[in-house]
Amino acid sequence: MKDYLNFTGKHVIITGGRRGLGRAMSIAFAERGAKVAVVAANPDGSEIMAELEKAGTPGLYYRCDLSKPEERDGLIDRIAADMDGKVDVLINNAGMQFNESIESCTLENWKTSESILLDAPYELSRQVIPYMKQANGGKIIMISSICSHREGGGNFSYGVMKAGVTSMARCMANSLAGYNINVNAIAPGIIRTDLTAACFEEHRYPNFIKKYPAKRLGEPEEIASAALFLASEMSSFINGHLLVVDGGFSGN
Ligand SMILES: NC(=O)c1ccc[n+]([C@@H]2O[C@H](COP(=O)([O-])OP(=O)(O)OC[C@H]3O[C@@H](n4cnc5c(N)ncnc54)[C@H](OP(=O)(O)O)[C@@H]3O)[C@@H](O)[C@H]2O)c1
Repeated sequence: MKDYLNFTGKHVIITGGRRGLGRAMSIAFAERGAKVAVVAANPDGSEIMAELEKAGTPGLYYRCDLSKPEERDGLIDRIAADMDGKVDVLINNAGMQFNESIESCTLENWKTSESILLDAPYELSRQVIPYMKQANGGKIIMISSICSHREGGGNFSYGVMKAGVTSMARCMANSLAGYNINVNAIAPGIIRTDLTAACFEEHRYPNFIKKYPAKRLGEPEEIASAALFLASEMSSFINGHLLVVDGGFSGN
């Protein structure tokens, strides 16, 4: 029986792969044989690199501030050169958010959100397409958010940009499906990471889980599972889809 979740020989790039959801995805792929290139802002990638080695497949680390166009320039070429010119999977995951409404969202916040959450996935996807075309296929995964369709009122620019990322996956899928390149997005609900630490505080948690039919919030490995599926041959006929992973929150 074919093991669809064996990624031996596959090359995977994960932005924001140093912490949180990206870390869980990086480890999940390394455990299944993939060589993972982690891109993150912090100069110190030693911890995640040690974790990937322990998971079974040593990875590569690239420091890059994805909010800066000059640092994004040529990034995929540099990584591909270190991976024998082959990139099978790109996961546009790096992200951050401001607590703000339309009224408190400054132009600076708006531009920062735009550069990290929209411009970076746009540019890195464009950079990776030639490699995937040359290989007759590939997988691009956008990490969007439930905020793309249910922003709760406190993350204005984040919600707008995440809606853009969901749409970007759909629009990219339309023009790339014919090249055997699948583009899809994942919309996580609230998942336990540094980004959401406040939601897990004892006095807040009960209020959050009232809105979750699963009666709990999520764990990073539950997003990694979705990413493995969308990066595998099991999802070969899935294009432009938004896979919601939120314990039922969106349907509630
Ligand atoms: N956690 C959730 O509940 C949740 C829900 C929905 C969507 N998401 C989305 O999932 C993605 C990952 O979130 P997370 O919860 O894992 O967040 P996190 O724990 O805060 O990790 C964010 C990662 O993104 C990287 N990053 C942020 N800004 C960057 C920049 N300018 N340049 C390069 N890398 C940058 C960070 O790099 P460093 O490690 O170097 O700082 C870090 O590795 C984000 O797109 C987020 O919007 C998360």
